[in-house]
Amino acid sequence: MADPVDKSPQRIREMFDRISPRYDFLNHLLSLNTDVRWRKRAVGKLGKARRVLDVCCGTADLALEIRRGGAEVVGVDFAGRMLALARRKSRGRVALVQGDAMRLPFRDGSFDGATVAFGIRNVADTERGVAEMARVLRPGGRLVICEFTLPANRLVRAGYRLYFSRILPKVGKWISRSEAYRYLPDSVEAWWGPEELAAMLRRHGLADAGYELLTGGVAALHFGTRG
Ligand SMILES: C[S@@+](CC[C@H](N)C(=O)[O-])C[C@H]1O[C@@H](n2cnc3c(N)ncnc32)[C@H](O)[C@@H]1O
Repeated sequence: MADPVDKSPQRIREMFDRISPRYDFLNHLLSLNTDVRWRKRAVGKLGKARRVLDVCCGTADLALEIRRGGAEVVGVDFAGRMLALARRKSRGRVALVQGDAMRLPFRDGSFDGATVAFGIRNVADTERGVAEMARVLRPGGRLVICEFTLPANRLVRAGYRLYFSRILPKVGKWISRSEAYRYLPDSVEAWWGPEELAAMLRRHGLADAGYELLTGGVAALHFGTRG
């Protein structure tokens, strides 16, 4: 799929390192805390996974939510400052590893769950990232992706664009002093549609891949089981 947004790994890593001190605060503020509910829903799709890899874990909000359910969790991210915050928040409850989603430093079949929240959209080669998540899952393991998506309904989409493209970048820039909140709507506009993404998961061995839209279709949970 053509993706006109610059997602070179260095740009993305530096962008997240730069906004890291304000990342959690802005997440909760700009989503009016809806992100918390979305992560809980994502955990619900994991089933009974006992050892879970959370890819692009950032400051570990999803990793910690999974941990609360009792699973052993490893979080991986390439941005050192995001990971430093994750370490402070998790106080040893999850294992944290610095690494690239396109070359996961784990053996084939070593997890029975793999998750990514608001991360895979930022990975320069999305398909490679998904292939890597599928690779580290054991057969029968669950993959769950939580990501923004463009609402299909024209009215909702217009409201979403007004907020996402006009208001959010200004508030985000004001608080974080970064263009990251301009990159966010641009990257969502260029992102895979829910059907397209489900079809791509099937191509990577998630035979029963499906999805569920969240909050009027502004986000989606994709899930599947490795065959
Ligand atoms: C929007 S944050 C999401 C963080 C967290 N999952 C959450 O739900 O808040 C995206 C994260 O993806 C990470 N990331 C992007 N591309 C990556 C890659 N190729 N390898 C590892 N981490 C990556 C960034 O460093 C950043 O921490």
